Amino acid sequence: MMQELDQKQTINLLNEIIECELSGVVRYTQYSLMVTGPYRITIVDFLKEQASESLLHAQKVGEILTGFTLSGAEALEGRPSLQILPADETDKYSVKHILAQSLAHEEKALRLYKNLLETVTNSSLYLEQFARNMIGEEEMHNIELKKMLRDFTE
Ligand SMILES: [Fe+2]
Repeated sequence: MMQELDQKQTINLLNEIIECELSGVVRYTQYSLMVTGPYRITIVDFLKEQASESLLHAQKVGEILTGFTLSGAEALEGRPSLQILPADETDKYSVKHILAQSLAHEEKALRLYKNLLETVTNSSLYLEQFARNMIGEEEMHNIELKKMLRDFTE
């Protein structure tokens, strides 16, 4: 049985996700500038990719929030937040520390997309499918980061 979409909750969550993804853009860009150590060269490219992908995600979520890609009754007409999620300042830029911070960030993003899925399930197949796809993408990031962290022991 389909239920009515909780528009307010959906818009709030989409905005929270945008704030999180945009903070990822700042976070990953800053890490890519600051990362040091023997793995710097390879990690820089990885971090820059993460920054670009976070921006793409924020833009995709923003399109949905503002309703351009939804048709008829399902269109959301939210207004995108101009805030970004504050990130903890750090003065540690070892590869291990950066990867651990990145993982924490990706876990937060994953939680938000899961909240979105819960909110839209049985209300909008389109949003449900979108949330599932994003969860898939974010899960892959989580797995990748966990793999990268596996070599580091205290
Ligand atoms: Fe993302």
